[in-house]
Amino acid sequence: MTRDAVPATSDDLWTVMSTASAVRRYRDDPVDDRALQRCLTAASWAPSGGNQQPWRFVVLRSEEARALISAAAARAWDSMREFYRLPDLDDGATDPKSRVLSAMAEHMRAGGSAPALVLFCVQPQPGASDLHQGGSVFPAMQNFLLAARSQGLGAAITLWHSLCEDDLRELIGIPHDWQLAALLTVGRPRGGHKPVRRRPLAEVAVVDRWDRPWTGAGADTVRVDIAGASS
Ligand SMILES: Cc1cc2nc3c(=O)[nH]c(=O)nc-3n(C[C@H](O)[C@H](O)[C@H](O)COP(=O)(O)O)c2cc1C
Repeated sequence: MTRDAVPATSDDLWTVMSTASAVRRYRDDPVDDRALQRCLTAASWAPSGGNQQPWRFVVLRSEEARALISAAAARAWDSMREFYRLPDLDDGATDPKSRVLSAMAEHMRAGGSAPALVLFCVQPQPGASDLHQGGSVFPAMQNFLLAARSQGLGAAITLWHSLCEDDLRELIGIPHDWQLAALLTVGRPRGGHKPVRRRPLAEVAVVDRWDRPWTGAGADTVRVDIAGASS
């Protein structure tokens, strides 16, 4: 599917899944409550260990929360630049890597001013490993992302909350025994949706043995046509 052929909204699961790539640039329009409610409802339909549903989805609307997220996002950008030794970005650059970096930079500079911010929290279950814990909240986040994409919204996962966690906990009143999993920024995309780019199945799926790659249909590439049939 070419980028131009990607529909703004879709109820077709295959189209939605294959075009739900991260969106980091938003129009100014607010995310209306009806659309947000559908995303939150989809999130609440996710599976969790023992169906405990040990999650809370915190919609961050207060000025105080937005200010904390903005400052954290700015710090995330500073440390990312330092870590990767990034040069000053040329906003006119057109190669794919520079375009993603420039979108990430703008996203972090805009920080808490995204049209909607939603924090995903999880309550650790007794005896559960970190991996198990994450497995009881990230499927909810993915359902949210797909519901957003279906309705023409775009979103990006961030870990900015980890740079202001103590302040955020205090502001929101998050109990000590809850963990903060991820923060989503959500809004109407400024540049539309684009197909995801992922490794072919032959690199990521095996049959019976680690050294026996999947060789069936879709081993080289996965194409999803606009009508929804995958091949
Ligand atoms: C656990 C996790 C943390 C992430 N953190 C960030 C983040 O802090 N900032 C960001 O811009 N994207 C973040 N992402 C989004 C990934 O960069 C993105 O999903 C990945 O590059 C694939 O790109 P695509 O969604 O455009 O196909 C995160 C994704 C995951 C799963």
